[in-house]
Amino acid sequence: DWNSGNVIAEQVAKIQAQVGTGRVICGLSGGVDSAVAAAIVHKAVGDQLVCIFVDHGLLRKDEREQVETDYVASTGVRLVTVDAREQFLTALAGVSDPEQKRKIIGREFIRSFEAAEKALIAEAEADGEPIRFLVQGTLYPDVVESGGGTGTANIKSHHNVGGLPEDLQFELVEPLRTLFKDEVRAIGRELGLPEVIVARQPFPGPGLGIRIVGEVTADRLEILRDADAIAREELTRAGLDGEIWQCPVVLLADVRSVGVQGDGRTYGHPIVLRPVSSEDAMTADWTRLPYDVLSKISNRITNEVRDINRVVLDVTSKPPGTIEWE
Ligand code: XMP
Repeated sequence: DWNSGNVIAEQVAKIQAQVGTGRVICGLSGGVDSAVAAAIVHKAVGDQLVCIFVDHGLLRKDEREQVETDYVASTGVRLVTVDAREQFLTALAGVSDPEQKRKIIGREFIRSFEAAEKALIAEAEADGEPIRFLVQGTLYPDVVESGGGTGTANIKSHHNVGGLPEDLQFELVEPLRTLFKDEVRAIGRELGLPEVIVARQPFPGPGLGIRIVGEVTADRLEILRDADAIAREELTRAGLDGEIWQCPVVLLADVRSVGVQGDGRTYGHPIVLRPVSSEDAMTADWTRLPYDVLSKISNRITNEVRDINRVVLDVTSKPPGTIEWE
């Protein structure tokens, strides 16, 4: 019968047999899959593993610290962080089209990942033990889905860490290949990973870059990050995380509306709340959140986040609306 301890022991033995004394690299996204995959591999081969985390500046509040501090403290994984925030902002300057943003983010991500990878490869070669393996957090549903079918991947050009180009110089290590998401979470808990990472709801690879309708700028990212943090905090406080699949918070940067705050007229931007309930993200319904929770979120965002004078609720199911706005 299924138990997370057995699965870990089984995978550890399998990884040790596959990897031997070889060196291994793994990209961390801040999400649960790559975090659990890397933790199992670390348990199996220790410091033969090095993880790469690209901070593209499109992360949510505290996510980098959760990886750099909490995750590293709980696993002992060796981590290299690439600070690519400027690089991404420069590449995204002047771009509003969603597909173009996705392409640019995907391209820059690969660029910065490969630059970090190159340095590690050189270092490993100097040690006489080349890097031969790449960890991927592929889950069972990913395996099934890539065998055909019409996923959302056909509608939007998906980017995520697992979507790195198949680097032929590396052999893949995929310890989660037979598992479902809830099983991955159970294993993450068994391995003692931080709850913020283990319980994290889906978050797209292009991050906040596709939650700003309009051009992505440092200023807009800061506004959205603050609004998103408030929404997440209040949803968690109200005990609603279990009911919600995810709740994108979107900044309509190209839309302005008139408001009144204090005794002055404002001309600010709306924030959209997009809480959805879903089994697998292929279809979704908008979550009927309690009015008092919506009210709390709205009040806090308009009071605490500069340039926001309106909060609106997205009441569209999928289809016809996708979960993300871009
Ligand atoms: P949509 O917006 O297509 O999203 O209804 C379905 C699910 O996929 C997530 N999503 C992404 N995940 N890279 C990802 O890893 C992406 O480029 C991407 N785009 C959307 C979205 O958050 C939802 O869970």
